[in-house]
Amino acid sequence: MLTSSEIRSRFLEFFKKRGHAILPSASLVPENDPSVLFNTAGMQPLVPYLMGQQHPLGTRLANAQKCVRTQDIEEVGDNTHDTFFEMLGNWSLGDYFKEDAIKWSYEFLTSEDKGLGLDPARLYVTVFEGDENAPRDTEAFDIWKKYIPENRIYYFGAKSNWWSVGENGPCGPDTEMFYDLTEEGLGDLTEEEYMKADEEQKLVEIWNDVFMEYEKKDGKVIGKLAQKNVDTGSGLERVIAAVQKKDNIFDTDLFANTMEMLREVSLNYNERSGRIVADHMRTAMFLVADGVVPSNKDRGYILRRLIRRALMQAKKIDFPMDHLKMIQENFNDVYEDIYPDIGNPKVLSVIEEEKNKFLKTLDAGLKEFEKGTDPFILATTFGFPIEVTEELAAEKGIKIDRADFDAKMKAHQDLSRSGAEQKFKGGLANTNEMTVKLHTAHHLLLAALQEVLGKQVKQRGSNITEERLRIDFNFDRKVTPQELEKISTLVNSWIAEKLPVVRREMPREEAEKLGAEMEFGAKYPDMVSVYTIQNSNDEYVSKEFCGGPHVTNTADLGHFEIQKEEASSAGVRRIKAKLN
Ligand code: ALA
Repeated sequence: MLTSSEIRSRFLEFFKKRGHAILPSASLVPENDPSVLFNTAGMQPLVPYLMGQQHPLGTRLANAQKCVRTQDIEEVGDNTHDTFFEMLGNWSLGDYFKEDAIKWSYEFLTSEDKGLGLDPARLYVTVFEGDENAPRDTEAFDIWKKYIPENRIYYFGAKSNWWSVGENGPCGPDTEMFYDLTEEGLGDLTEEEYMKADEEQKLVEIWNDVFMEYEKKDGKVIGKLAQKNVDTGSGLERVIAAVQKKDNIFDTDLFANTMEMLREVSLNYNERSGRIVADHMRTAMFLVADGVVPSNKDRGYILRRLIRRALMQAKKIDFPMDHLKMIQENFNDVYEDIYPDIGNPKVLSVIEEEKNKFLKTLDAGLKEFEKGTDPFILATTFGFPIEVTEELAAEKGIKIDRADFDAKMKAHQDLSRSGAEQKFKGGLANTNEMTVKLHTAHHLLLAALQEVLGKQVKQRGSNITEERLRIDFNFDRKVTPQELEKISTLVNSWIAEKLPVVRREMPREEAEKLGAEMEFGAKYPDMVSVYTIQNSNDEYVSKEFCGGPHVTNTADLGHFEIQKEEASSAGVRRIKAKLN
């Protein structure tokens, strides 16, 4: 049985023998083309040459091109969809046309010694039926008749048999090859039966020859190009499934070890989730290797979303997160000869860092989700990509108000862009380590004062230095030593409980609804930052409008000690405290 590496090399070898120059894969990130996020087809880096520019290596080219397509991300988990794939492609730039293109596609797919040795009796072909832009492709039909029986060649419209990328550029009718992946074999199919088998993924598209002799402008076909090109594409993963006689891409040698490991170590395994984890991790590795880093924008956001979606599914199947590295090692083994870059330690560390970042908030975020917390908060505080929240919601039959989310997100981004973060009230001027710790202790102290002396206690002023914190609050008598004792015991118990300190940015109204403590007399902008501390029962220990910064966990504070309690002014008391 041919391995994935052998299949790739056979393809390149086959077309090299037929006069094609072999190009290396271009980066997933298109060069000089900010309009597209990733290369989604082998022809994309070749557009100028398809439009007529001379290619330095001649008129026949071939390669295996790395591609990322995420528009079908929700289909991943079925038998044939993936977000990363390699496209095997051969091109004629005004050189050979339909006759050779079809002959070579057929030869490569079916020849035992030169190609893949696929069973011709399992091949089905579609050709273009014609419309106002181009005639019915009887030429392609007639060529195909030399190789496969007429009743397995179907005519379809532009929706399936016209190919272009985007609104502008080269395009044309195509002929597509489908392969029967069933064990029993489907045999002859009427057009209706054929379409049904396609929908059931019993048939899978394994090759597409585009006869690129037309040009599209602003979404409309405007006429013929100066040269007749051929642009072919074959999804390597699907071809491997066909050759290795698997009914899905995840059982091929590209994924087999990873899937086996996922099945073995996950305590609550389901195949769909396992496939998503494997697929997204593989894509993430290739993206990072090509220089993408997780962020909240464009390419970085897609990467972030893939990693976080994978982690969400990994959690669902109780996959031990420390095994994530093993998935990466498996893919390294599979690809080390052809794409050694994905084995770069940097790839491992970028993904590891993103993983750690998300795992910190994943559990808390899921709890918030269960409570019906606003998707905007889930996104900004817990790092849940909106698409992930939408998916979680869909599982429960809930629909997310996307317009509301987008509006809040926009306000949030405008705010960050204008540097208005500084407008958040109560931010610390001095941010050295001890001051930051004392700042968090200050929040705990206010919470403890309210707990021991009553909810009516409000902060009236505060001051923090590197040595101590000071809080002024309304209270009309001296605080007794017993009460002070209770207050510091309470603060120290929260420190001992190692509670996460979480920053959330939200609309002011949201924060008011939450009942966050405000600074006396302060005016707040439309978007505010709120710091919350919750105990293990998810009850709020503290929630305050505050610009921070703070420690991330109360465990960082050490021991809290009240030094002094005194009067500040009429009806206002003052406490000074420190951390040891
Ligand atoms: N560019 C064609 C495709 O992606 C070959 O299907």
